[in-house]
Amino acid sequence: MWRPSRRAVLAGSACLLAGAGTAAAEGVAASSGPGLGELAARSGRFFGTAVTSTALAAADAYADLLDRECSVWVPEWQLKWGALVGDPADAPAYGPVDAIVAAARRRGKRLRGHTLIWHEHLPERVRGLSGRGDWDRIVAPHILAVAGRYRDAFFQWDVVNEAVEPRDGGGDLMRRSPFYAMRGPDYVADAFALARRAAPEGRLYLCDYGVCYAEGWQEARRTGVLRLLERLRAAGAPVDGFAIQGHLDVRQRFDERIFRRFIAELEGLGLELAISELDVREADGDGGRSLAERRQRAADEVAKVLAVALDSPALTGVVTWGLADDHSWLRKTRPIPDNQGLPYDDGLAPTAMRSQIAALLMAARSRT
Ligand code: XIL
Repeated sequence: MWRPSRRAVLAGSACLLAGAGTAAAEGVAASSGPGLGELAARSGRFFGTAVTSTALAAADAYADLLDRECSVWVPEWQLKWGALVGDPADAPAYGPVDAIVAAARRRGKRLRGHTLIWHEHLPERVRGLSGRGDWDRIVAPHILAVAGRYRDAFFQWDVVNEAVEPRDGGGDLMRRSPFYAMRGPDYVADAFALARRAAPEGRLYLCDYGVCYAEGWQEARRTGVLRLLERLRAAGAPVDGFAIQGHLDVRQRFDERIFRRFIAELEGLGLELAISELDVREADGDGGRSLAERRQRAADEVAKVLAVALDSPALTGVVTWGLADDHSWLRKTRPIPDNQGLPYDDGLAPTAMRSQIAALLMAARSRT
C-alpha cells in the first residue's frame, strides 16, 4: 500500500494551495508563472525534455513550451548511431543534431547527450558484429567521433544505455548485446574511457530502466545495475553518474523504502543521479475513469518517484520524455492510443502532472 511521503504531501498541498487544481488555473500558472526549469534551478537542478530538430524548427506553440519550461534538452533519437549513419562506413548526418545544438545555444539551454552506445537503433551492419576487432575498428571510432564533435555542446552524456538484462541469463545480469559479444562486460568501461578521452568536460552517465518498482524483475535489474557500477568503480572507469530513465507504469507496485534504498546505494557509490526519461504508461484500458482521474493517477505516479529522488542531493535534474502527450513515444509504441503520461495534454494544456512536478520542485531540498 503506497502512502505518499511527507514531501509528496507537502508538494501536493502546495499544488492545491496554489489553486492549481483546475486546468484553467494550471494554464495560468504554467503560462505566466515560472517555468519548470526555473523552479528546478531554485534547488540547484535542471528540468528538461526530449526534443527533435523538427519540433524546435516548427516555431509553434509546442516549441514555445519547450523553451518556456526547460533548462535542458535531450535529442530524443537523432543522436543515436542508427540515426547518424545507415552504415558505419557512411559519413554521419550530423545536421539534425547540429540544429538542436544551435537552437539550444540561441535559447540558452544545456544539452544531455543520449546516447553513444545502445543495442537498439543501430546501423544494420553493427547488429551482426561480434569480433573483438570490430570494437576497435568500428565502435571506438563512433564514440570518439560523436563525443568529440559535441564535446563542448553536451554537459551530460548517456554513454551506455540499457547494459543490464537479467533475462539474458548471464551471471553478471548484463545484456548480451553486440558490444558484449565483442568485448564481454569490459565494453562498458572501454566506452566510458573513450568518452572521457573525447569529451573530457562531460559528465558521463550509465543509463537504464526498470529500477523504480518493487516487482521482482525490477529488483534483479537494480542488482544488475549496482553490480555493474561497482565493477566500473573498482576498475577506475570514469563514470560520473547514473540516469534512471523513469518510464513509470501505473500497474507496477511502488515501495518507497525499496526505491529510497536504491537511491542510497547509488549515492554510496559517489554518483550523480538524473531522472532522464520520465513519463507514465497507463494500464490497458482506463477502467472507465474520466480523463481528469487518469491524469491525476499519472501525476500521483510521478509524485511517488520524484518525492524520493528530489530528497537526494545527488539528483542533478529531471527530464521528461516529451512534454505533451501527442509527442510521446508511448503513443507510437504502446497499445493505448490516448495515453495520458506527460505534463501537457494533446491541446498543450498543462495537466495535473505539470502542477505536481512544479509543486515537488518548489518543495525540493537544495542540492547544496
Ligand atoms: C525512443 C524514442 O522516444 C522513439 O522516438 C524512438 O523511435 C525509439 O527510442 N528508452 C530509451 C530511449 O533510452 O532512447 C527510447 O526513446 C525510449 C526507451
